[in-house]
Amino acid sequence: MALKYITAEEAASFIKHGDRVGFSGFTHAGCPKTIPEAIAQKAIEEHEKGNPFQIGIFTGASSGDRLDGALARAKAIKFRTPYQTNKDLRASINERQLDYFDLHLSELAQYLRYGFLGKVDYAVFEAADVTESGEIILTNAVGIVPTLSHLAGKIFIELNRKHPKELRGIHDIYEPKDPPYRREIPIYSPSDRIGVPFVKVDPAKIAGVVVTENEGEGGKFTPLDEVTLAIGHNVVDFLAYELKAGRLPKEFSPVQSGVGNVANAVLGCMAENKTIPPFTVYTEVIQDAVIKLMDEGLVTFASGCSLTVSNPMLDQIYERLDFFKQRILLRPSEISNNPEVIRRLGVISINTALEADIFGNINSTHVLGTRMMNGIGGSGDFTRAAGLSLFTTPSTAKDGKISAFVPMVSHLDHSEHSVNIIISEYGVADLRGLSPVQRAHTIIEHCAHPDYRPLLKEYLEMGIKGHIPQNLKCCFAFHQELEKSGDMRLVDWSKYR
Ligand code: COA
Repeated sequence: MALKYITAEEAASFIKHGDRVGFSGFTHAGCPKTIPEAIAQKAIEEHEKGNPFQIGIFTGASSGDRLDGALARAKAIKFRTPYQTNKDLRASINERQLDYFDLHLSELAQYLRYGFLGKVDYAVFEAADVTESGEIILTNAVGIVPTLSHLAGKIFIELNRKHPKELRGIHDIYEPKDPPYRREIPIYSPSDRIGVPFVKVDPAKIAGVVVTENEGEGGKFTPLDEVTLAIGHNVVDFLAYELKAGRLPKEFSPVQSGVGNVANAVLGCMAENKTIPPFTVYTEVIQDAVIKLMDEGLVTFASGCSLTVSNPMLDQIYERLDFFKQRILLRPSEISNNPEVIRRLGVISINTALEADIFGNINSTHVLGTRMMNGIGGSGDFTRAAGLSLFTTPSTAKDGKISAFVPMVSHLDHSEHSVNIIISEYGVADLRGLSPVQRAHTIIEHCAHPDYRPLLKEYLEMGIKGHIPQNLKCCFAFHQELEKSGDMRLVDWSKYR
């Protein structure tokens, strides 16, 4: 069946107020750009005419500014899931202009199949290639495309000529059956290929192909500062110590590392510790540092959901695609983040906290318990199922006025039961096997900033009875002080006794 080539505006003209649209991509990688911008433009025009125009959006994770940003600025989003990192979208969420559903990334595909989130009217996929028989070769991410491809009523393709057709072979497309028919997901090593290299759809479903030449939206990482580097070294020294002590297999375990600069720095530091053997990566986002380590031979294979790399790094990968295709697999988020596989492989998970409490609970998402930062992303998928779960955080934020370590987290994403190790620039708190009070002493001594240690110790020593000595009168005093004076260091416990 011949493919129909159309403009982005023609594609956008199909989309109506109230539709639910699924997009390819995972982070800025693999997202369509031209059609979302045309939908945003349509929304602006409809609003100018006094007509309502808002849509529901599903993607693999966050997306690029040309998708989330453009649609948020056009006030064209009614509902969004499962994750975002865009400043304009974040502002709209915190002003409650739209409904945001923050979900473990591995769960979205099944939520959609079960119909918990309503039907998917349209899907828009960025592709490196598409055939008349309906075979689609995705670009540098997979996300929830396999599920969207059979749920969506109609599909639009953004055929992005910046991505080579030769990407065919880097994707491993597999969708599990739903319970009670699901069998084990047969991944026993990160390099196991279990699916096919393309997404196959009924060609009659493809309503149009829009040809583009869009650059990726992969920005550069900010240069590593002293704090980030110290955290990286602490993580790597800890892992090397565990290896030496025989608490990690001598072959090492597959590594998952979260999003952002700290995650990139941690991986960068791996190369410096010569006792760590070449290892594999089983993660969701494959960042620049993984590619560098692969070039140096320290990472032997990386399984992920996206190549979330800077534009220069993507160019380098494409220049030597044959080399990287033998060492990288991109999978659907339902598989890259699948707790069954993560537990089986004994993954070492390394994620970043916004704040932690002295008893080991983690807040990854809500500043002061109220304002959404990004979302839980895949951190919960990995943390709960990991063989060894680590959280990193700088000990303070905003020039020391905010302590990352507080008496009680203002929002809970990962509980004390799932968090093994917490690491700041000051050191490592190994929480395994410790009681709540032991955990508190360890976190205060090894991770908290020295300015906050006396305050946190005083809190512990207030004489509160019970297994966990939380003082319900003042467990949020740090947060209240920040709102009042702008500096958590000014907390005065005598007011609460
Ligand atoms: N209270 C208030 N603000 C805080 C804070 C706290 N306890 N801790 C950090 N901040 C502020 C920082 O000052 C910074 O503000 P700015 O943007 O105005 O400079 C902002 O929050 C981001 O902090 P930063 O240290 O730059 O964070 P990051 O880029 O390393 O990201 C998370 C940290 C937690 C937001 C990020 O890792 C995340 O979204 N995690 C959840 C999802 C996840 O883990 N995904 C990976 C799974 S595979």
